[in-house]
Amino acid sequence: MPDQPAKPTTHDSAPRMETIVSLCKRRGFIFQSSEIYGGAASTWDYGPLGVELKRNVKNAWWRSMVLDRDDIVGLDAAILMAPQVWVASGHVAAFTDPLVECKSCHARHRADHLKNNTCPNCGGKDLTEARNFNLMFKTNMGPMEDSSSVVYLRPETAQGIFVNFENVMTTTRRKLPFGIGQIGKAFRNEITPGNFTFRTREFEQMEMEFFCKPGTDEQWHKYWLEERFNWYLKLGMRKDKLRLRHHEKDELAHYAKGCADVEYLFPMGWSELEGIANRADFDLTQHAKHSGKKLEYFDEETKERVVPYVIEPSGGADRGTLAFLIDSYREEMAPTGEGKEETRIVLRIHPALAPVKVAILPLSKNEKLTPLAKDVLKAVRGSIDGLVQYDDAQSIGRRYRRQDEIGTPACVTVDFESLEDNAVTIRDRDTMTQMRVKILDLVSTLKEKLAIK
Ligand code: GAP
Repeated sequence: MPDQPAKPTTHDSAPRMETIVSLCKRRGFIFQSSEIYGGAASTWDYGPLGVELKRNVKNAWWRSMVLDRDDIVGLDAAILMAPQVWVASGHVAAFTDPLVECKSCHARHRADHLKNNTCPNCGGKDLTEARNFNLMFKTNMGPMEDSSSVVYLRPETAQGIFVNFENVMTTTRRKLPFGIGQIGKAFRNEITPGNFTFRTREFEQMEMEFFCKPGTDEQWHKYWLEERFNWYLKLGMRKDKLRLRHHEKDELAHYAKGCADVEYLFPMGWSELEGIANRADFDLTQHAKHSGKKLEYFDEETKERVVPYVIEPSGGADRGTLAFLIDSYREEMAPTGEGKEETRIVLRIHPALAPVKVAILPLSKNEKLTPLAKDVLKAVRGSIDGLVQYDDAQSIGRRYRRQDEIGTPACVTVDFESLEDNAVTIRDRDTMTQMRVKILDLVSTLKEKLAIK
């Protein structure tokens, strides 16, 4: 058994957003879009680590919402849809935010986000009357740029599900209740994007429309509130940073009969992570009316046709990723091994979400150690789902710190003893404790460590 270092001490203060933005840039999680041209406002690119992290968030959602269930199937609908979809859904008429302009500095703001009707840019109080600003991005389909060719970039993925309700129900021979899940890009011309990736104009949603019999909707709404809240907890989010908030009647979206948000305590305060709405029969009824197609369910038992009610958990993949990053960020005092202490930055992120799952670290570059370490790398890469890194540059202490900062749950050290005992050391990210395991048992030990429990 290797010597165990003293435990690190965590200072549990929440990080500031700038700290997270800086970590994301420094380590390649998230970059400003089009940075070499001075950046495109409020748009972000996921770098080599960010793409893994966000993909892991989406995969965890897909596993829990689609793969692990008998009552939900998946879909991947197009972003561009017939423009009538957005008339029927009410988005053309009602998907608006109140826009005001400051008469002094001409900055534009969302009226409902202002404090004391004051311009946050210059402090001016002379603002224009609020007007409804539609958030949908418009573009033209085909070579003609006139009103007949206008199409919209979808502002929610949900409508792709509603218009495919009949297709999915008949091809999969589903009975109520059942759900259709989808992950994909959505676009909103937000008046005031900001807070890093929290509010952007292009983002990804993870949405599921759960179709149920009218009258059972309240019960399913409660069920999904609990399920979705617990999903964040199961993936390690701190309970004291999460809460459910029920909407007041005047906050409800035009389609909703009821709604509650899962909120997270972001650096700027409690903010929505996911909305769980009861959309009743609003969407199917509207699409039936506008398309002329019946969108109903025939109940074999009662021999009645019903328009299903819909419960919709709708989360943001980018917001979720940001919340998982913020929630797992820690600055700790940790022993250096030379009787001193230093600050270590560590992402105590759930192993299922960690961008790098395992790092293979040969103690030094050496003609005997390197081939063994490469063999270990090959065995681990072939069996672990996710990124496995190999790093033999700089001291082992520095390499551990580099992996801590990006949340790698396990570092595997291959040392000179490994050549004799066919064993390696697994160093745990959170406790910094070390465990010696036979190379033959390495993959099964790592799999156990990385599983969602
Ligand atoms: N289909 C329902 C719907 O779209 P929403 O509350 O407007 O509901 C759902 O959006 C989720 O999508 C939000 O909880 C949030 O996580 C994410 N989202 C919405 N607008 C966003 C934006 N501008 N930037 C990033 N994420 C956004």
